[in-house]
Amino acid sequence: MTPQQVLLVQQSFEKLAAMGAPAWERFYSELFMIEPSLKRMFKGDMHEQRKKLLAALALAIRALNAPAKSLDPLKALAVKHVGYGVKAHHYTYMGNALLRTIERGLGKDFTPELRNAWVAAFQTLATIMMEAAYGQNPSGTKRRRLTVPTEAGRAVAEMWIIPT
Ligand code: HEM
Repeated sequence: MTPQQVLLVQQSFEKLAAMGAPAWERFYSELFMIEPSLKRMFKGDMHEQRKKLLAALALAIRALNAPAKSLDPLKALAVKHVGYGVKAHHYTYMGNALLRTIERGLGKDFTPELRNAWVAAFQTLATIMMEAAYGQNPSGTKRRRLTVPTEAGRAVAEMWIIPT
């Protein structure tokens, strides 16, 4: 990621966080629409879950240009996720749900440049988490086209790195 991309992600996240709950309340519906089988993995209160996710994302996004050690809690979180039954390819779904949430929240301010910056940020963070949890080497990943249903019933293809 370039320093400019890090800045773009951090600034837009501030904006989204300031929008509060309404900007985030559809996050998990987006995720379950992309992959309905994930729903049964979540046992707790989804309102609380969203708050935890947001707090973890805030930490991760701050860590993008902080000393490497700041990523330690994120790595520990990724290891904990293995116990929740999370697999490496689930990060792809999470990334897409995140992009949709941001797009919905920012509307026309979600420019292609900003989208690219968020894709780079999520790939950076997900790679760190996947490496911590599954010991995967990023070079062992490949690009694949993923087609997912949308609310309007259209199929949207988004490029992600999915572990082989
Ligand atoms: C950027 C990536 C992610 C972040 C920042 C994140 C963040 C979090 C946080 C903070 C918690 C609460 C942990 C706790 O209190 O123990 C959590 C729980 C959980 N996450 Fe994630 N997560 C990420 C990716 C994923 C992915 C890819 C999945 C796959 C579906 C997933 C599924 C879960 C599940 C099943 C729980 C436990 C829910 C429950 O106890 O009911 N997470 N996550």
